[in-house]
Amino acid sequence: MDFNFTPDQLALKKMTQEFVAKEITPYALEMDHNNEMRPGLLEKLFEAGILDITVPEEYGGPGVDALSIAFVYEELGKGCAGVATSAAANALASYPVLLMGTHEQKELFYSYITNGKLGAFALTEPAAGSDAGAVATTAVKDGDDYILNGTKCFITNGGTADVFVIFANTRKSAGIRGLTAFIVEKKTPGFSAGKKEDKMGIRASNTCELILDNVRIPAANRLGREGEGFKIAMKTLDAARPFVGAVSVGLCQAAFDAAVKYSKERQQFGKPIASFQLVQAMIADMAMQLEAARLLVYKACWMKDQNVEYTKESAIAKCFAADAAMNITTNAVQVLGGYGYSKHYPVEKYMRDAKIMQIYEGTNQIQRLVIANNILY
Ligand code: CAA
Ligand code: FAD
Repeated sequence: MDFNFTPDQLALKKMTQEFVAKEITPYALEMDHNNEMRPGLLEKLFEAGILDITVPEEYGGPGVDALSIAFVYEELGKGCAGVATSAAANALASYPVLLMGTHEQKELFYSYITNGKLGAFALTEPAAGSDAGAVATTAVKDGDDYILNGTKCFITNGGTADVFVIFANTRKSAGIRGLTAFIVEKKTPGFSAGKKEDKMGIRASNTCELILDNVRIPAANRLGREGEGFKIAMKTLDAARPFVGAVSVGLCQAAFDAAVKYSKERQQFGKPIASFQLVQAMIADMAMQLEAARLLVYKACWMKDQNVEYTKESAIAKCFAADAAMNITTNAVQVLGGYGYSKHYPVEKYMRDAKIMQIYEGTNQIQRLVIANNILY
């Protein structure tokens, strides 16, 4: 592995750091309280070049590598994991198109993303969460069109995106082998966003149900062949899971910094709590987990950039970094004591935000299955 970061990668990291410090961190608690992104922030994220980060150069994007993208999500995660989630869901929606899209499909999808519109990736359904192959939404061929019917749930950007990648079953009896991916534009009649979730954390991000009621789309919007949807979803998740790791690393860093600062300032028994060895042990454990999580995320991205097989490393990075985020944010609350439990300090938000990292893009139990399967079979 060569972690000699290029000047371009470092410049992108610095630019994002400055953007986050000015436009996100000061408003993170407000967005958490209001349960939505601050008005105007989406436009600023787009102008800063953050929302179209995964778009190739030939389609009007920056065409950067995975490590650069991880830098961006790490910095966003430091400021607000909700905002980071919304931006990363854009990347998640882009990958099926990047992997399987024809030139025309890429032009269609990226015309939204390069104009500041959001994308969303809709796989999950009420009865198809971890068991993603159990998707019940149907897509029935009708002449040159498909007609989609069903309900998706927990879709990030579901209520705010303009373009979607939707997974539906074109041959119910075939199960996993019937899954097919489609590009669906929000403006299509019969397509609507349903209930918005009221969540524990990442509240700046929009999470919604999607309803497909006789949604007629051209067959030209089908990504790949009928029945290729499950593999497209899995390859997409391979590409995107390290970015959940990157957001987690950002959360880890923010919680760690807050704990270190507070431990030096807070006096008990006539001295800073940082002088107590049991507090030092918490700080040391946080430092170890943060360092390891960051290296695993960079390694998975580096492997992706080398075009080598990285399914296992992607799952390891996501799982380890998400667990690290949960541990570090919980310990940050502990270091701040009662003040950590109060909304006066940001660490309670970090802890609430961290929990989802262990759940979405495949729970950490599912990551462990993926890791074991890749070792044993
Ligand atoms: N790449 C390519 N192909 C793959 C693959 C991969 N990474 N993983 C599996 N496949 C293939 C297998 O080779 C197999 O192919 P064959 O039938 O030709 O042999 C086929 O897919 C089925 O594989 P499995 O038997 O392993 O499938 P399974 O039903 O046991 O499920 C699973 C495997 C890992 C549990 C999978 O269902 C899974 O990842 N579940 C979690 C779902 C998930 O992550 N959802 C995230 C939604 S998005 C989200 O959450 C976004 C957000 O928050 C912002
Ligand atoms: P279940 O699958 O019902 O799991 C419940 C519990 O059982 C978990 O602990 C799980 O680990 C465990 N479990 C299940 N199966 C096994 C097994 N085989 N072995 C061991 N343990 C198992 N989905 C999208 O498609 N797009 C999105 O943009 C999106 N964004 C999301 C945003 C948020 C805020 C949330 C909460 C979810 C989002 N999801 C999205 C859905 C997310 O990916 C699923 O919630 C997740 O995959 C788990 O599915 P489930 O909630 O149905 O839990």
